[in-house]
Amino acid sequence: QPSSAVRILEVGPRDGLQNIKTSVPTSIKVDLIRKLAATGLRNIEATSFVSPKWVPQLADGADVMAQISNLRKEGLNVPVLAPNPKGLTNAIKAGAEEVVVFASATEGFSKRNQNCTVDEALDGAQQVVEQAKGQGLRVRGVVSCIFADPYTGRTSPSEVLHVVKRFLNMGCYEVGLGDTVGVGTPKDTQILLELLLKHVSPNLLAGHFHDTYGQAIANVSRAYDMGIRSFDSSVAGLGGCPYARGAKGNLATEDLIYTLEKSGVSTGVDLDQLTSVGDWISQQIKVPNSSRAGTALLAK
Ligand code: HMG
Ligand code: MG
Repeated sequence: QPSSAVRILEVGPRDGLQNIKTSVPTSIKVDLIRKLAATGLRNIEATSFVSPKWVPQLADGADVMAQISNLRKEGLNVPVLAPNPKGLTNAIKAGAEEVVVFASATEGFSKRNQNCTVDEALDGAQQVVEQAKGQGLRVRGVVSCIFADPYTGRTSPSEVLHVVKRFLNMGCYEVGLGDTVGVGTPKDTQILLELLLKHVSPNLLAGHFHDTYGQAIANVSRAYDMGIRSFDSSVAGLGGCPYARGAKGNLATEDLIYTLEKSGVSTGVDLDQLTSVGDWISQQIKVPNSSRAGTALLAK
């Protein structure tokens, strides 16, 4: 029996903001990370070191990292995306101790999101992992389009297994399973995990569910029952990849905390305080608050 404890990675400042069209001031990004850390979250994806032409919103990643250096010194873990050696160099310069490499399970999204094939993305990731680990950094992998690709349709579980195995063989400590477009149901989660868990221990996998069809918390629940104990979520349900047509926000962190706490899994996160942060950031960037638990608590 795995322990009940869950690791939560808050991805709002990265996945949540990367698709926002108007430029969000650096000070708001920094305040967001500070406020999230104050709720008790210990792992917060802070930004990306990708091409600023591809994701202009996160072009200020180095400034964000500099302005949260006190939180980093206090032990807050702030992984950043770094898909290639250039990204890694910039991430290390900015003080990153953990980087995230990513690849799609499918060719259509790989081309749109990283301008290369899946195997080319994995080769880039491998270079990042080797260099990063050589310098003492931790590396996490994330595989996108685990259930479907917005350009090429359904994904087969064996395509996901291929990428998961490559990431683990390179030396990633964990692989996030990304339902980039948010279409998967608990049944899809079960079918995929039944295959993956034949090859990989559940403590090496994490769920990264987007909530386009309202299935994210149900997917978490099914994955939890199958032994997964690590989940990504985003305050106020912000999020979506600019290169994934139709993709909506991530699972809202408020909804995740609500489900876990009500199920007797203590998270160390103050839900009322987190709800206020979700309300605050939604107003700052003028998007509706997509958390069901958050909006319900705000209406009380
Ligand atoms: P490219 O245009 O093919 O790259 O992009 P290139 O090697 O030809 O370089 C073009 C220019 O970009 C050059 O600059 C490079 O120096 C620069 P120029 O000479 O033209 O001035 N460049 C960089 N600059 C800064 N940092 C870098 C970097 N790399 C190159 N790291 C590339 C290829 C991969 C760079 C590009 O496609 C890219 O940045 N893609 C990232 C897109 C992205 O961030 N998407 C969102 C994250 S993934 C996601 O959201 C899914 C996830 O949440 C999981 C899920 O939901 O499934 C993780
Ligand atoms: Mg995502």
